[in-house]
Amino acid sequence: MRTHLYLLLLAAGISAASQASSIAELLTLLQQMSKSVTKENQNLRIETPDNIDDVNCVSTIFEGTEQLRTNPTMTKFSVFFQKFEKLKPSLTPNLAEEGKCDTERKNTTTFIAKLMTFIRQASKKSKSIAL
Ligand SMILES: *[C@@H]1O[C@H](CO)[C@@H](O)[C@H](O)[C@H]1NC(C)=O
Repeated sequence: MRTHLYLLLLAAGISAASQASSIAELLTLLQQMSKSVTKENQNLRIETPDNIDDVNCVSTIFEGTEQLRTNPTMTKFSVFFQKFEKLKPSLTPNLAEEGKCDTERKNTTTFIAKLMTFIRQASKKSKSIAL
């Protein structure tokens, strides 16, 4: 019984630690992405939440990320999008229903900056990290 509990705690600890390092990795990749934004993808306008803390805006952020992913200039960052996809469930709050999110169309640089803020904050709130 005691061994079982120990293993359980160990597993929780490992998953929290590996999530924390995935978050750090995501943020680093986003930073590189932000630096590599070219004139080409700067013309892209992405629906960006006015308030990144708004829980009603999570799907807007995911949609914006998807829009970024499908941009041809982003193919070299496919690793980021794969990792982000895996972390999505842990970044998604448990909402019965998402309400209205106020957005504005922003350039790529602004969207990426907001996405970084979102990932930082969501990972702090995330249950598996709190363990
Ligand atoms: C992107 O938008 C922000 C805020 O509107 C602006 O400050 C910045 O200069 C824009 N960047 C480019 C490269 O157009």
